[in-house]
Amino acid sequence: MLKTRLTEKLNIDAPILLAPMAFASGGALASAVTQAGGLGFIGGGYGDKDWLEQEFTAAGNAMVGCGFITWSLANQPELLTQALERSPKAIFLSFGDPELFVEQIKQAGALLICQVQTLRDAKHAIDAGADIIVAQGAEAGGHGEKRATFTLVPEVADYIAKTAPDVLLVAAGGIADGRGLAASLMLGADGVLVGSRFWAASEALVHPNMWQAAIDATGDDTLRSKIVDIVRSRDWPDRYTINLVENDFSKDWHGRESALKTDKVAQQTWNDALSAGNTAIANTFVGEATGLIHDVKPAWEIIDMMVSQAKICLRSYS
Ligand SMILES: Cc1cc2nc3c(=O)[nH]c(=O)nc-3n(C[C@H](O)[C@H](O)[C@H](O)COP(=O)(O)O)c2cc1C
Repeated sequence: MLKTRLTEKLNIDAPILLAPMAFASGGALASAVTQAGGLGFIGGGYGDKDWLEQEFTAAGNAMVGCGFITWSLANQPELLTQALERSPKAIFLSFGDPELFVEQIKQAGALLICQVQTLRDAKHAIDAGADIIVAQGAEAGGHGEKRATFTLVPEVADYIAKTAPDVLLVAAGGIADGRGLAASLMLGADGVLVGSRFWAASEALVHPNMWQAAIDATGDDTLRSKIVDIVRSRDWPDRYTINLVENDFSKDWHGRESALKTDKVAQQTWNDALSAGNTAIANTFVGEATGLIHDVKPAWEIIDMMVSQAKICLRSYS
């Protein structure tokens, strides 16, 4: 147990949230994180009605939240209604303007968590009514922008302390062990959001070859790129890139995005490789924390390790 404002607000034991990772954070992982003392989130991602139904069912009676990619949710707003019918603890919105959805989320009694990549967007999300801000640095797995966790978190913490002290702050991006948790608390966060480390939890929905590629990689091997959005025909706004482990495909195509857009064969090759778990072609989606991931283990062990290490770190300086 490690008490912070976040554990008090959410009534949990560890100030650790599971990132709602599209395709990887299913109901089994979300409920495992909650049962271990954190709060699990189902990764609603781009939005698939049947998948969402199935994963909420897999989460059983565990208290969980649900995340969506905001710009994509705007194309299928009915998915928010579907998620709210399952009485999630919180709705997690990232990558787009949350304003459109705030009223519905509040009326349903769920907390609103907004993940942001800039101070400007943090201000906007607070004005829109966010209960919790997640400040995401560029080290993060998945999509993001250029600000680093180490400066973005304290800058947002200062802003919140001055203008909206009831809003809570969570740090994200590169946090994979107790050192990252302790450092985040020192930077002014009330807790952490963890993606990459839980992506390598045994309950995650991930191809084992991808896990191996992440274990073999160091943080040096990651690259922020747009190529995998091009090959998957995901229409991401220009400002966002995604972190991935470099491989033969990215060495060939990163920097040649215009050519990739018209090369249907290369696109199909990548998508076939993803289904087959061929990591020389399909890129592994993980952040710089890949260099801190050396094994796949159950979510409870990850939480145990993070909390006990953080306590030692925090005690060392008291
Ligand atoms: C495989 C993967 C998929 C992700 N998908 C999403 C997503 O669908 N929605 C979202 O808000 N964030 C997504 N993220 C980003 C996380 O919310 C979070 O910011 C990030 O994982 C934190 O950094 P870390 O990976 O270093 O822990 C994803 C991250 C990963 C690793």
